Amino acid sequence: MALSASSPSSSFLRGSFSSHELKAPWIHSVRLLDQCSVPRDSYCRKFLVKPICAEQKISDSVVPLAATLVAPEVEDRIETEDYEKLAKEMEQASPLEIMDKALEKFGNDIAIAFSGAEDVALIEYAKLTGRPFRVFSLDTGRLNPETYQFFDTIEKHYGIQIEYMFPDAVEVQALVRSKGLFSFYEDGHQECCRVRKVRPLRRALKGLRAWITGQRKDQSPGTRAEIPVVQVDLSFEGMDGGVGSLTKWNPVANVEGQDIWNFLRAMNVPVNSLHSQGYISIGCEPCTRSVLPGQHEREGRWWWEDSKAKECGLHKGNIKQEEVAQLNGNGNGAEPTNESDRVTDIFNSQNLVTLSRSGIENLARLENRREPWVVVLYAPWCRFCQAMEESYVELAEKLAGSGVKVGKFRADGEQKAYAQQELQLGSFPTILFFPRHVASPIKYPSENRDVDSLMAFINALQ
Ligand code: ADX
Ligand code: SF4
Repeated sequence: MALSASSPSSSFLRGSFSSHELKAPWIHSVRLLDQCSVPRDSYCRKFLVKPICAEQKISDSVVPLAATLVAPEVEDRIETEDYEKLAKEMEQASPLEIMDKALEKFGNDIAIAFSGAEDVALIEYAKLTGRPFRVFSLDTGRLNPETYQFFDTIEKHYGIQIEYMFPDAVEVQALVRSKGLFSFYEDGHQECCRVRKVRPLRRALKGLRAWITGQRKDQSPGTRAEIPVVQVDLSFEGMDGGVGSLTKWNPVANVEGQDIWNFLRAMNVPVNSLHSQGYISIGCEPCTRSVLPGQHEREGRWWWEDSKAKECGLHKGNIKQEEVAQLNGNGNGAEPTNESDRVTDIFNSQNLVTLSRSGIENLARLENRREPWVVVLYAPWCRFCQAMEESYVELAEKLAGSGVKVGKFRADGEQKAYAQQELQLGSFPTILFFPRHVASPIKYPSENRDVDSLMAFINALQ
């Protein structure tokens, strides 16, 4: 289904599209309105008096509204802010203060990620700030009927329109046709989550500079114990592109579940009816079940899997950093010394060739290659490599059958000296293009590692 330029938001809200179709008009609509073709002052004055959270009409489309209504300019570019310092300063701040700061700083370039569970508290806090705010949800297509009902209730209660993000229909089709509807019970939830949640999230975040989540430390002692109230999100990219272009706000990081519920009751906020059936943490229907008294809330999620893996990819920085921290003693992303083999490998896809040392030596030696290659030199413990994992796997999928081969070469440890001398390795990740008729590989010069930028580089050299 193609989007028409004249009605981007309605199509955006109702349809299911390929990333290629969806991305351009969505960004276009946000950017276009950001530039304010009508004098900005007239909008701002009008809506400063009546914030959208209080006044928005349900029949209006949310993207243009959210984009036009917001008064505050972005206060700072994120590169100039020291978020570690800010997180420390705000560690004792209330969720309301943190929410207010986030909305104040990012205006229309920030949105609340709403799962349809108790993180409705975020919407209530946003409303209480009196500032305009945006809300998006990842509709995986597998949510409980009660959750869909709840979305509708929330839209009506707050007079907002949730910006739903849908998975790419072609990707879902390929997954379900090849592996069935319940493959996650057989080979883990990562693949399905990647298609139904993580990629749609990646698209959503590409139109923002910051997002707000309902993560809490007490949700998962294994993976969430360290989350700060605000952080640079190294796993995804914002609209400016590149590592560090996105911030993540976790206003309820330090709040305990019990206190969230006290707040919801005190403010008389509607809640998902699944909570009264024993559900605490709520995700997709086939992957969530109720828990018994005394069980931890995460035990109801992906219950057939090892508890350490219970992150679906939305917050994957949590898992990876913990692993690095364990290996490294300090979690600073420096290279682990002799234990690096224990780190989970990345860039795993049937469309990617894993090159051994002799494999890449052969490739580098050839003067006439049958087909061009793109190869990432990586280290699985490197945060920047982890951050580009999704886009590189997606690139490999896109290039499958196109005549361009996609590979990876693990270039840390004992391979590092060779990679530095022979393969232009400076820092991780280094991306090389091996053209068909040119002997030396060409190094990708940019830090923008999204699929479109990588495709443009490859297309320019073929
Ligand atoms: S998950 O990674 O295990 O699915 P969890 O359910 O704990 O996450 O929710 C943590 C936060 O992630 C939520 O408060 C919300 O901000 C975001 N989130 C989770 N699922 C969704 C979703 N379907 N749509 C939007 N945001 C979500
Ligand atoms: Fe798929 Fe389950 Fe992940 Fe939902 S939670 S996207 S159904 S694996």
